[in-house]
Amino acid sequence: MVDKKGVTIAGNTPKGVFYGVQTLRKSLPVGAATVVRLPSVKISDSPRFVHRGMMLDCSRHFFPLEFVKRYIDLIAMHNMNVFHWHLSDDQGWRIEIKKYPELTTKGSRRSGTVIGYNTALDDSIPYGGYYTQEQAREIVEYARQRYVTVIPEIDMPGHMLAAVSNYSGVSCFNQTGWGTTFSSPVCPGKDSALEFCKNVYSEIIPLFPYKYIHLGADEVEKTNWKKCPDCQKRMKDNGLKTEEELQSWFVHNMEKFFNDNGKEMIGWDEILEGGLSPTATIMWWRTWSPNAVPDATAQGNHAIMTPNANFYFDYQQDKNSLSGVYNYNPMLESLNDAQKALILGMQANLWCEYIPSRERIQYMIMPRMMALAELAWSDPSVKSWD
Ligand code: ACM
Ligand code: ZN
Repeated sequence: MVDKKGVTIAGNTPKGVFYGVQTLRKSLPVGAATVVRLPSVKISDSPRFVHRGMMLDCSRHFFPLEFVKRYIDLIAMHNMNVFHWHLSDDQGWRIEIKKYPELTTKGSRRSGTVIGYNTALDDSIPYGGYYTQEQAREIVEYARQRYVTVIPEIDMPGHMLAAVSNYSGVSCFNQTGWGTTFSSPVCPGKDSALEFCKNVYSEIIPLFPYKYIHLGADEVEKTNWKKCPDCQKRMKDNGLKTEEELQSWFVHNMEKFFNDNGKEMIGWDEILEGGLSPTATIMWWRTWSPNAVPDATAQGNHAIMTPNANFYFDYQQDKNSLSGVYNYNPMLESLNDAQKALILGMQANLWCEYIPSRERIQYMIMPRMMALAELAWSDPSVKSWD
């Protein structure tokens, strides 16, 4: 509240007061001023959604710890509360795993960075970087002080080239690389591969003291699985009829492991294919797969909205426009009230294949992040484009 006596910020919780401070901060003018006048106003509010997130892909490009902290500062300043940290992908493994040192000594390095959409063309400039476990703890603590939850993602069974190229017994065949659409995935037929995946997560889980772990599980090329005797045997032994069901089997197996360790699983919406477990949360990204959220919520699963046609901030602003973010309605027409109640919130994703610098990050996320923040926090009745 602002009145003649000054500014008063009160809340039911310290977190509420923290957000009041952020709102005051955003109300102040940019730059030097000797006198600041605020209009008399009383604001009384609370967030619309519990999940108000920003993802950062630190695999395709690596961002130093200091910049990750600045990204978290921006999240907090916009009354957002989730930092989704994409820590591994085909182009680089970015987190120390003590049991598997080559994930970082080799997997965090590459000989060059792709130029444009032709994956065969690269700049031939060696590139690398990773976070130690100690640094991950530092990020978690930094975020905690700002009421930001960190959700780590080690994407599997696809997008795992940086791992499967450096350890044997993790992929179907020794030779790994690019298939027709995506890279060689983990082999769900091999016990050694499952053990590898769980050992990795055994070191990730203690670093992030939160409810959710993100398994990824998007964009898996299943060509190898069709040819691999171990995968085919796994399918036969478990009565799985399709490779999609094998993917589900892998996801459920990992989810059970997370649950046994006190965590809940988030996965990209592909985890619906081949059967969704009752406790998984889907992160919907494929705008072209419009039934994902209706289907998942009809089964009682939670969903987080990150549709690529609105909330992919690595897309240019003429494609995913500011108004397209601001005017997005996460409460899809086809959902009933019970389904709507399962929408946890919204998030923007920043995939960094073509985002090499902090300046480019800032250019891509601002001002769209402001629109997302308001959408995720405010009741639609108080929205005003003007
Ligand atoms: C994704 O964009 N592959 C989740
Ligand atoms: Zn296999």
